[in-house]
Amino acid sequence: MLFNLPPTMPFNVDLLRQHFPILSQTIEGHPLVYLDNSATTQKPTEVLTTMLDYYQTSNANVHRGAHFLSNNATSQFEQARQNVANFIHAADKDYVIWTKGATEAINMVAYGIEQQLKPNDEILISNLEHHANLVPWQQLAARTGAILRILPLVLTEEGNVLWQDSYQDYFTAHTKLFACTHVSNALGVKPPIQQLLRLAKSVNALTLLDGAQAVAHYPVNVDELDCDFYVFSGHKMYGPTGIGVLYGKTAALERLTPYQTGGEMVASVSYDKTSFNQLPYRLEAGTPNIEGAIGLAAACQFLSSLPRNALLAWEQELAKKAYHALQQHPKIRLYSPVDSTMVSFTVDGISSTDISEFLDSRGIAVRAGQHCAHPLMTSLGVHGTIRASFACYNTLQEVEGLITSVFEGIELLADD
Ligand SMILES: Cc1ncc(COP(=O)(O)O)c(C=O)c1O
Repeated sequence: MLFNLPPTMPFNVDLLRQHFPILSQTIEGHPLVYLDNSATTQKPTEVLTTMLDYYQTSNANVHRGAHFLSNNATSQFEQARQNVANFIHAADKDYVIWTKGATEAINMVAYGIEQQLKPNDEILISNLEHHANLVPWQQLAARTGAILRILPLVLTEEGNVLWQDSYQDYFTAHTKLFACTHVSNALGVKPPIQQLLRLAKSVNALTLLDGAQAVAHYPVNVDELDCDFYVFSGHKMYGPTGIGVLYGKTAALERLTPYQTGGEMVASVSYDKTSFNQLPYRLEAGTPNIEGAIGLAAACQFLSSLPRNALLAWEQELAKKAYHALQQHPKIRLYSPVDSTMVSFTVDGISSTDISEFLDSRGIAVRAGQHCAHPLMTSLGVHGTIRASFACYNTLQEVEGLITSVFEGIELLADD
């Protein structure tokens, strides 16, 4: 054993793991060690059985049918919306719009504000963004003549964002929208979001936070954050794939032109003209992902039933143990901050893919590469990193196994 268990653990990881049947398998003789949670988390039985139960007892289309099953499905679907809104502390007057995921939610805003942009308006994003929070803005700029500007957040040696007064120069009367990650998927760093939102508001820009990497770990309160939009994906927070959320303040959502049209989102239709339904339906064309919404609400309920601060402390503890152990190796360079819930690192002279393949041969699943953040990797001067990202069900033994295998992999793969 490299590490000792902390003396007081407010929840029992072994018991928690029993809720995740997938984790008990072996991969070619090795127990599965799943450390790719930033890509997607595993799903607890509570989520799986809720979705199965929906199909076995209540499946029908929502909002349309005048029959028992449809009414039942509709009430479960709308209750799920309410539960997810409660989970992120949305105010009663604001809305959760269902999307396929964070990517679709961002696209919905990017297309939705297109008609309001003119040449030389500015869209500002940080230099830490996932492509999902970059490419839609770049394409929007190309379509409208607006300018995409990059806020160059400065990272310290320890991987934290250093506050610079010069950041405020990027927020001008031209800035129409500021979009920023709540937590970076590639490095685990948290930008100084409150200060940045304050700067954005001082110039009346719309604000969008990408919470894809935040919601599973940090309690999120959108009302306190006071952003116009907050987006995330269900599958990164123990929920199903294919469902996500665009949270928006009513006034901000009202500004969006629906980016898809069709059934469900209309109030009345003639051959000449269509009038759109009210929020949230006007932004939800077509039959929605009903079981996904219900599954995501079950994931929120699952997380809410656990001591969330203790989960976060546990994930940070795992990341910190990994960080300090990796730091001992002369060939390893770390890019994540010590207090995040992941470690992102490179090994001198060995590609991240080679390390991840070696880890895979030991049953250890990590992500290697550019993490959908090519410009960020370029600015760090690396081709990619190895990212081990932790969830509440990971254990110290798994961290120990990761470290041992990384060190053995380096021994085996190094030229010298
Ligand atoms: C920070 C961040 N934003 C957006 C996304 C896109 O999420 P999705 O692919 O679920 O739409 C991801 C996915 O990795 C992410 O990490």
